[in-house]
Amino acid sequence: MSKKLSVRDLDLKGKRVFCRVDFNVPLDGGEVADDNRIDAALPTLNHLAEHGARIILASHLGRPRGKAKPELSLAPVARRLAQKLDRPVAFAEDCVGAPAGTAARSLQDGGFVLLENLRFHPGEEANKEEFAAELASLADLYVNDAFGTAHRAHASTAGVPGILRPAAAGFLMDLELEQLGRLTGTPESPFVAILGGAKVSDKITLIENLMPVVDSFIIGGAMAYTFLKSMVHPVGKSLIEGDNLTLAKSIMQKAELQGKRFVLPVDHVVTLGDDDNYRTTANVDIAGVEAGADIGPKSVELFASVLASARTVLWNGPLGRFELEQFSNGTRRVGEALAGSGAVSVVGGGDTASAVRKFGLAERMSHVSTGGGASLEFLSGLPLPGVDALSDA
Ligand code: 3PG
Repeated sequence: MSKKLSVRDLDLKGKRVFCRVDFNVPLDGGEVADDNRIDAALPTLNHLAEHGARIILASHLGRPRGKAKPELSLAPVARRLAQKLDRPVAFAEDCVGAPAGTAARSLQDGGFVLLENLRFHPGEEANKEEFAAELASLADLYVNDAFGTAHRAHASTAGVPGILRPAAAGFLMDLELEQLGRLTGTPESPFVAILGGAKVSDKITLIENLMPVVDSFIIGGAMAYTFLKSMVHPVGKSLIEGDNLTLAKSIMQKAELQGKRFVLPVDHVVTLGDDDNYRTTANVDIAGVEAGADIGPKSVELFASVLASARTVLWNGPLGRFELEQFSNGTRRVGEALAGSGAVSVVGGGDTASAVRKFGLAERMSHVSTGGGASLEFLSGLPLPGVDALSDA
């Protein structure tokens, strides 16, 4: 991937800048419930304001599928952002048409407007040319700081930067590409990838892309049961992908042939029908009606021992149903082992980022990505349309 133009390289004074951010944040009772993505955009937003740009912010929120849905309005985000920036943030009730045009024209140097949810228009996700042209007509320059949405070829991420040149990367975009790029470049070895979550199929491309650089794969979460089942271990009623047993087996064989370690759980916390009824298994086998919900204490020890000698670690996917206290031990303890390992530790976004924050470990990681799907696709070697569309440095 060629080096992209940075917001730092732009002459911003008095220019209207269309800045794509990822303010797709959880809301609770009409208020922002998690402001990590807002905080992550602040360095770029402050830079734009300090250099006299007139800043037009655009984002999606949720999946309204081309229709205006009041519960997915970005108005609460505008209020929260104004507090964070300690300056007014105007809000345009539509991202195109008169409300957007009037708000963009009224901006003073250093002023902000946040446009309403881009996905209230079908043209956003369909990357419709006319919609992209309408958005582009609001500004002189383009900056993309929405790493979390860089894997989407939408009007605001791929269409607008095709029209508004130059198109530069914001500081968050740069930081994410640099930190995640460390893993796919020449990571210091031993490089360990901790992979969890529900499905093997979601992680196949990632495993294949990382195979040449990774020394050990540690597998937890529900995807571990598919691997165990493919080795003919009884997994009871645990969630498995029946269609992917052969695939799981072939991945392990491939890893073995290449001298890579594939580390699976050796015990589990299992439920016995409902979440209040659970026990720890004595070994790897899960019997009859039981279903795996977390890795067990021996697995924690095994995983921690692999991490102890690691120099680089990627963590993508929780190791159990960590939202429930009784099934959170594996994710928490392995997170603690990683935080204490001294290795470069990169945490994929989404659920894994939520887990490290929940357990107070985020500050002890080298990098916690703001992009779930985007970091997975980047590390899987897939193109990021939102990055490809930017001007080269
Ligand atoms: C995310 O939260 O992963 C990004 O904002 C992208 O959202 P999407 O999966 O709805 O496109």
